[in-house]
Amino acid sequence: MNDRDCVAFLQWALPRMELHWPGYRKVRGMVCKRIEKRRRALGLASLDAYRGYLGEHREEWEVLGAACAIPISRFFRDRAVFENVEQLLLPELARNAERRFERSLACWSVGCASGEEPYSLSILWQLRLAQRWPGLVLRVLATDVDQNLLERAATGCYGAGSLKEVREDWLAQAFDRQGSAYCVRPPMRAGVTFARYDIRQGAPPGRFDLILCRNLVLTYFEPALQRAVMGRLAGALHPGGALVIGMHESLPDRIKGLEAWTGTRAIFRSVRDGFAPGPQA
Ligand SMILES: C[S@@+](CC[C@H](N)C(=O)[O-])C[C@H]1O[C@@H](n2cnc3c(N)ncnc32)[C@H](O)[C@@H]1O
Repeated sequence: MNDRDCVAFLQWALPRMELHWPGYRKVRGMVCKRIEKRRRALGLASLDAYRGYLGEHREEWEVLGAACAIPISRFFRDRAVFENVEQLLLPELARNAERRFERSLACWSVGCASGEEPYSLSILWQLRLAQRWPGLVLRVLATDVDQNLLERAATGCYGAGSLKEVREDWLAQAFDRQGSAYCVRPPMRAGVTFARYDIRQGAPPGRFDLILCRNLVLTYFEPALQRAVMGRLAGALHPGGALVIGMHESLPDRIKGLEAWTGTRAIFRSVRDGFAPGPQA
């Protein structure tokens, strides 16, 4: 299968799954390899034959959808974002939670891949903020559509390649070496819960102080689905809560109740119910 055939196939198939070709341009090599493997496993002679197969077997679209999910992640991906989370977001969200007499800060990592993002958040809290907020526990719900990734996430062990953006001193404090693997220490795992969830089908119950939705919806979903999902995420935030998107992503127009978080990039504050940031924000 050559690149041109695969691109033509993707441009046909992706919109049928509410996915967006431009997001796939750079990562198509990985996706094309998976599709080719699947075509061979089915004993089909060409991608045209695979199109026909998809027409006759509706359940195959789920297999193709899984082949199109991009699992790339790493700890503290885009360090500048985590600096903002540490210095601006979590202190303000902690103050808001205390004003509501909450005992925990509720966070949600949407499309958490193998756990790198939710564990990064937990490490940040444990190493930098927990002492300042002894009355608060950080809880992270980490969801992904891919069960295999979630199982890997639950083991919490990673190769050195996933840890390139972790500060040297944090590496020693947050991970135990097991042979060539680095395993997240128990205190940093304690507040993180993994669950299978397809973000196209709704949001988990409850309200969140912080939602991370990076490098998934606004990169790979088609515009109408982006708007629907982002609207739902905005509705799942506490007033004053924060939404973090990918550094290279932008929020669609007409998402109600969110405004850019001053002094940051790719971070938004929920201004629902007339929320206005306090003097310390
Ligand atoms: C590129 S990774 C991003 C990981 C992490 N958020 C980051 O920025 O490093 C995208 C993740 O979204 C997951 N995903 C794809 N479609 C999804 C869906 N419909 N619902 C939930 N997760 C999905 C994939 O399995 C993958 O783990």
